[in-house]
Amino acid sequence: MKNIVILISGSGSNMAAIVKTAKRDDWAGKWGARVAAVISNKPDAKGLQWANQQGIATEVVAHKHYANRAAFDTALAQSIDRFELPGNPALVVLAGFMRILTPDFVAKYQGRLLNIHPSLLPAFAGLHTHQRAIDAGCKFAGATVHWVTTALDDGPILAQAAVPVLPEDSADTLAARVLTQEHLIYPQVIADLLRKI
Ligand code: GAR
Repeated sequence: MKNIVILISGSGSNMAAIVKTAKRDDWAGKWGARVAAVISNKPDAKGLQWANQQGIATEVVAHKHYANRAAFDTALAQSIDRFELPGNPALVVLAGFMRILTPDFVAKYQGRLLNIHPSLLPAFAGLHTHQRAIDAGCKFAGATVHWVTTALDDGPILAQAAVPVLPEDSADTLAARVLTQEHLIYPQVIADLLRKI
């Protein structure tokens, strides 16, 4: 049995999609894993409440309480590592986690640290991806699940999903369309990885 630790900063809909998929009758038992904890850098992240209601352990490591990135990342790693099982390192899943991580943190979790980004990488790394796709006149947008490396929104791509950009789209309507695909591809990638690692 492996533990999955999910890091969030906001509404946590990707986290919820992963938790719900793990509980589905046709998936339960096949994962050989459970979502052991949800950790947020923001005390008011909406997803924390939902995770609590599901009986999942939650923790807050508030970045504002730390003097610098390195100190925050050290505290975050200590929080994550509390949910590791002896001899079985946890998969660490960034799901709308909006902090840049230090190279030391990334190196510590290399090979088990995943992210989802709301664009078809390598296009539109960084913020405001949907508006930038609209402004660029893209006909398709989407989301990417990738291994995390020290470069921002970079790293080997594990899965992508594309959606059309419609003429009447705002950043919000496009984001909502992309999000529905995020909720499909992220659990699928995790299930595939759990079979291999
Ligand atoms: C998602 O669209 C995710 O791809 C994005 O934040 C949203 C979080 O939604 N992540 C990033 O922008 C990371 N660079 P959620 O909290 O409802 O899962």
